Amino acid sequence: MIILGIESSCDETAVALLDGGRRVAAARVAGQEDIHSLYGGVVPELASRRHLEVIVPLCERCFAEAGLAPAALGAVAASTRPGLSGALMVGEAFARAAAGALGIPFIAIDHLEAHLAVNFLGAAPALPALGLVVSGGHSSLYLVSAPNRYRLLGETRDDAAGETFDKVARALGLPYPGGPPLEKLAAGAREPAVRFPPPGVRDSFDFSFSGLKTAVIYHLDREPAADRAAVAAGFQAAVAAGLTRNLAYAVNRHQVRSVIAGGGVLANNYLRGRLEKWAAGRNIALHVPVLAECLDNAVMVAVRAWFEIQPPGGS
Ligand code: KG4
Ligand code: ZN
Repeated sequence: MIILGIESSCDETAVALLDGGRRVAAARVAGQEDIHSLYGGVVPELASRRHLEVIVPLCERCFAEAGLAPAALGAVAASTRPGLSGALMVGEAFARAAAGALGIPFIAIDHLEAHLAVNFLGAAPALPALGLVVSGGHSSLYLVSAPNRYRLLGETRDDAAGETFDKVARALGLPYPGGPPLEKLAAGAREPAVRFPPPGVRDSFDFSFSGLKTAVIYHLDREPAADRAAVAAGFQAAVAAGLTRNLAYAVNRHQVRSVIAGGGVLANNYLRGRLEKWAAGRNIALHVPVLAECLDNAVMVAVRAWFEIQPPGGS
């Protein structure tokens, strides 16, 4: 069965063709940083318009690369929540129309579940697992009992982890999206990292990052001559401490056999390293997707759809 996956929830248009739930026959992502960086953040209307322009050529390119025709498809899946409503609408309308024209099922996918589900591509994380999503718009913790069963345990009460990276990066004078340049700045720190308290909500599965954001901004206001790299490194260290504290709280309350993670913020090598160290110290298996599958992509949408059509154990 070949599934066409479509992703358009924010500022990436992505298309993937997944064969038999295991083999990626083609995958493409078209970013929009060129338009949004002019405004320091995503402009929803511009995002929708760009999705509309590129979705058809991107699909054509994927079919050509895979040497497949649309008639080969068994289902079409698209992220339908959460995200920017106009942007989501483009992908969903396109996917529904394609499925309708071909007379095959359309599968609506939760974007956050997809970020986690991609860990089941070519691997079999032991279940039940804790699922940690840290992306631009969300920070969420799930209990995952099967590749198609996700129970939300907690989420951010204010800013998401990626949103915090973007806002702190802006305060440091870095361009949007802020995660990659902030990571680079922090990696070059010569002075010791500035210490910030780990963000979070005590005795809860929830996250909270706005206190950390404010602490960094106040620090920069108070000490304009502060070494920016040391501030960036301190901020990253605090985010890592906040995430591991939340995971520790959850593994003490739920019997899990592994941790699966996903979302654009995990493109950060320092954070990946800190999560790996935490998991190794507790003897817990940690699964984090390869870089391209942490950031928004359509492979994850097709993988999540595969487990909807084909329950675990099927082929
Ligand atoms: O998952 P994603 O691609 O889109 C959403 O679903 O939101 O995540 C995008 C977020 C942005 O906030 C971006 O700054 C952050 O991921 N990000 C990073 C890095 N690369 C991307 N954050 C920290 N370090 C990075 N290297
Ligand atoms: Zn995402």
